[in-house]
Amino acid sequence: MQREATNKITPWEVCDKIDYEKLVKEFGVTKIDKKLQDSLKGLHPILSRGVYFSHRDFDKWISNAEKGKKVSILTGRGPSAKLHIGHLIPYLAAKSLQDKFDCEVYIPISDDEKFFVKEGLKYEEAIKLSRDNILDLIALGFKPGKTFIFEDFVYTDIYRYAAKTAKRISYSTAKAVFGLKPENNVGWSFYPAMQAAHILFPQFHKGKHMTLVPVGIDQDPFIRVTRDIAEHSDFNFEKPAAIHAKFIPSLYGDAKMSCVDSLGLNVIFLDDDKKTVESKIKKYAFSGGKDTLQEHREKGGNPDIDISFQYLKMFFEPDDKKLQKIHDDYKSGKMLTSELKQILIQKVNDFLEEHQKKKKLAEKQIDKFILK
Ligand code: TYM
Repeated sequence: MQREATNKITPWEVCDKIDYEKLVKEFGVTKIDKKLQDSLKGLHPILSRGVYFSHRDFDKWISNAEKGKKVSILTGRGPSAKLHIGHLIPYLAAKSLQDKFDCEVYIPISDDEKFFVKEGLKYEEAIKLSRDNILDLIALGFKPGKTFIFEDFVYTDIYRYAAKTAKRISYSTAKAVFGLKPENNVGWSFYPAMQAAHILFPQFHKGKHMTLVPVGIDQDPFIRVTRDIAEHSDFNFEKPAAIHAKFIPSLYGDAKMSCVDSLGLNVIFLDDDKKTVESKIKKYAFSGGKDTLQEHREKGGNPDIDISFQYLKMFFEPDDKKLQKIHDDYKSGKMLTSELKQILIQKVNDFLEEHQKKKKLAEKQIDKFILK
């Protein structure tokens, strides 16, 4: 049975089926149209193949970047757990755009946010998770000297800026936008000011210019609030631009990979070993194949709902021709689900093997990235 899309989205909650067309209207964002989409050719597949579906002023940001005006990118991480591949979406976009435009990238780590929001997460544990997540992010290959990472609990200078943004965000705005409930602690209600300070940080730090914030659509409420205050005379900044990614579904096919099940079987973690990846994909990756071999050969599979194909498209098969062939072979029934899964297993394991090596090297590089 088809589940109806409910579109319940706050930064702290995402429902399991999302109608992105409806979201564009509800959030008042702009769809990435064909012209803008075409300008993303040659970038990482998550940018070139439509995972990013809507934006705020992205066209203006690109135009500034192409004219050689100063631009920057900022996207953060709330370290509530170890990273899985769904989490990488904003950072891969940031890296791909940094490679193209040679701009600065800022990555705030909101250990305070997760400490406030996640019941049971201890302060010391939040600090430990931050470091582990930071190593994963450095391993993606950001440019040293042009990439700045800071943790709220460590880089406490950020508080000065958060105080300034807090003064311009009313309690009723925070309540309405973030869906705050009376039982939430006051940390939750202050945190939006901290994230607004993150988003404006490149301008606090380096003066007025346009910053692009690549995020999952759940983070847009923070963008909206920040854009509303950016031009206030206290700041006199440019409104930040944003691009919003669809959620990478979990292996089961749920809308958001972040809804990790208790055993972590529906997601691929960045520290999964080869056997675990193989077993998770074989057992749990939702298949668009038919029930019997004969039926599959006759009628073919459905790549649009097949998680293995979707992961290859969004992430792991950058070659358009190869992807098209996999698509056509699967759809015609020439390729079986087991064969499609095998392609993904190989690609994911190659990626993770490299990533895990680079993460070890990142331990030696960390000082080049952390903002003092
Ligand atoms: P966090 O840590 O929950 O998630 C990090 C980023 O990953 C996106 N994301 C996904 N995107 C696609 N598919 C998925 N399955 C998926 N799961 C997570 C999230 O939308 C997010 O962009 N508050 C933020 C961290 C933050 C931040 C910032 C973000 C701190 N300061 C400034 C942007 C700008 C958070 O908790 O994200």
